[in-house]
Amino acid sequence: MKRTPASARLDREELAAMLALRDPAGREELRRRAESVLLEECGPRVAFRGLVEFSNICRCNCRYCGIRRGNRAVRRFRLDPGEILECARFCAEAGYGSIVLQSGERNDAEFLGFVERAVRAIKRETVSGALPSGLGVTLCVGEQAPDAYRRLFDAGAHRYLLRIETTAPALFARLHPKEQTLASRMKCLESLKAIGFQTGTGVMIGLPGQTHGQLADDLLFFRDMDVDMLGMGPYIANEQTPMRRHAAGTRARHAEILELSLNMIAAARLLLRDVNIASTTALQAMDPVGRELGLQFGANVIMPQVTPVRVRREYQLYEGKPCMDEDPQRCMECLRRRINAIGREVCPDDWGDAPHARRRRAGMPEKQR
Ligand code: 5AD
Repeated sequence: MKRTPASARLDREELAAMLALRDPAGREELRRRAESVLLEECGPRVAFRGLVEFSNICRCNCRYCGIRRGNRAVRRFRLDPGEILECARFCAEAGYGSIVLQSGERNDAEFLGFVERAVRAIKRETVSGALPSGLGVTLCVGEQAPDAYRRLFDAGAHRYLLRIETTAPALFARLHPKEQTLASRMKCLESLKAIGFQTGTGVMIGLPGQTHGQLADDLLFFRDMDVDMLGMGPYIANEQTPMRRHAAGTRARHAEILELSLNMIAAARLLLRDVNIASTTALQAMDPVGRELGLQFGANVIMPQVTPVRVRREYQLYEGKPCMDEDPQRCMECLRRRINAIGREVCPDDWGDAPHARRRRAGMPEKQR
């Protein structure tokens, strides 16, 4: 019988203590442990997914987000189907293996049909010798009804990301207008899983008033939800939102949030072990080598920008977003160099599913916890 890994028994107090680590020696020890679990469970390869932010039209009014409905300073756009397909072809040719379609949230029939057709076209048009079933498609288009999720799954998307943002009820309520609820988001995650999506979630780190204990609870939630993927990143204030006055402000606070974000990735790796964890763009907004640091603290997925440069500025969820002008070809080369420089390798022409998802599919008994 498989030995229960010590890390699977981490409790809330131990997790909160990991998150609170500030001294370099303690953090390096945490980093090393996370890296060794990563190498053991997932190997050294980093999976790429080309990220297409295909529309910033959004019905939500999240108080932290730059593309919230209430931000009149944003020019709204939606890419044409042909442009999305062009991005997908680029991904397939670049060896990315997977694509993420992300947008603001809409739940009208026109939008749903648009996304469904885009997924079908991508799956159809990207089949090749290297990708016999086409690109892997991950969707990140917010809260939808179960039958909408089902249609998107049937169209060929096999992974879905929906961040819970925070599992602390009072904090969630401060971040969102009252028509957006934690309960509804949880229901969506349940429905995605029931439909058969490989499901990912995540939180923002360093939110005003957020505690280490709350982040530890978030980690335990990820474990209890048995998610396959995580995308977490530092909260970065946006001047065009109601939360601008909570701007991180001092340099000390900035460093603290970056360290906390990296500690969070490491703690997630130690607790969840074989899931995919993204090293997110927001990390790089905080530090020029933020994404490399994320990989070194236990992440194994990178999402290079493939959104056409002409609309990238319109998709600024937070300030200081990097890679605003680089064309996708240059982004790819730059990332490959960065990954090789830290002794890891890219994993071309592969959907890059989490070992956790493969094990679940194979019907192996759930990890003992
Ligand atoms: N800072 C950091 N992350 C943000 N997101 C939205 N606004 C911000 C911000 N100001 C994140 C949310 C969302 C994801 C697409 O982007 O977590 O789920």
